[in-house]
Amino acid sequence: MIHWSQKKISAFQQTLLAWYDQQKRDLPWRHDHDPYHVWISEIMLQQTQVQTVIPYYNRFMKQFPNVQSLAEANEDDLMKAWEGLGYYSRARNLQKAANQLVHDYGGKWPTTVEGLQSLSGIGPYTAGAIASIAFNQPVAAIDGNAYRVFARLLEIDEDIAKPQTRKLFEKIVNQIISKDRPGDFNQAIMDLGASYMTAANYDSANSPVKAFNQAYLDGVEANYPVKTKKKRPVPVDYFGLIIRSAKGYLYEHRPTKGILGEFWMFPLIKRNDLIKEDDPKNGPSDALMMKRLVRMIQVEDGLDLKLKMVNAKPVSHTFTHQKWHITLLEGQLPATSDLSYFPGKWVQPANFDRLTFSKVQDKMWTAYQKRAGD
Ligand code: ADE
Repeated sequence: MIHWSQKKISAFQQTLLAWYDQQKRDLPWRHDHDPYHVWISEIMLQQTQVQTVIPYYNRFMKQFPNVQSLAEANEDDLMKAWEGLGYYSRARNLQKAANQLVHDYGGKWPTTVEGLQSLSGIGPYTAGAIASIAFNQPVAAIDGNAYRVFARLLEIDEDIAKPQTRKLFEKIVNQIISKDRPGDFNQAIMDLGASYMTAANYDSANSPVKAFNQAYLDGVEANYPVKTKKKRPVPVDYFGLIIRSAKGYLYEHRPTKGILGEFWMFPLIKRNDLIKEDDPKNGPSDALMMKRLVRMIQVEDGLDLKLKMVNAKPVSHTFTHQKWHITLLEGQLPATSDLSYFPGKWVQPANFDRLTFSKVQDKMWTAYQKRAGD
């Protein structure tokens, strides 16, 4: 399976760990091996860069210093603490898992990869990271960085976009990992992936493990890791409605299911919902779309809206599977409007920061404030 001799494996471990001891990044979650600290940092780091995570992590630990406090946290406070990190299901899963730990596990952490994976939001990578760093288990922790590092070191040709490739990498890493210091080994791999073995502009010639980097020695690093392209996010076009009354701006409470579920945001209407079968191929004019939109809101929500275009750049935001493109419209309603058919409420700008602003909401509000004069 692995073509490295035991001697080479030992030499690699020694070289890697000696480098780590001298050069490791001083990161706040590395100050101890508390599983709570490891867990929160790993979840934050899943989709977000280290430099961005550090202040969030520090604030989070002040506000929710342990599993118990996270389990008991007010959901709005938790969302607020997560605001700006994105992928909010991570925060919801954290709280679910905290409750599992308190109620199902009597406050005691499972210490195996299998046990850890029974917790909400913990997959094979995070389970491996917690098991190795907090509980000293000799298990792999393979994220995108680790895939890249090991694929280059060993010239592994398997496609890392395929789910079954994980097992192969785990098998290989389980043979190479240091049995004495598995947590440090995994974190040293992370540091290599963030320094000498980055995705682009890597500096292998000066890497502490260059002698072990087969792809470098063969001059083929650019080919590793092998990864077939993911499908591109599907474009979805919206109108974003910025509707004002004397009571503030109209916010919609989004449905539980789907992207940005349960967030409070300016109402979004899909352009496609306003298109009819016999419309011309390139769609009806914006003016006609707006007329239909006004009628739809009249019929569905009983609101008599006046709408006009906002003179601002459309807002774009890319999620994992969708790319949103939002054209902003603004309108007015009487403060006496009956909102009983609309899932929303009026919010004064002074109270906006009581809501959790998603990135998209932030972009809409910023674009609106920067609009050119009417
Ligand atoms: N990326 C993912 N986990 C990390 C960790 N523990 N330290 C640094 N970077 C990471």
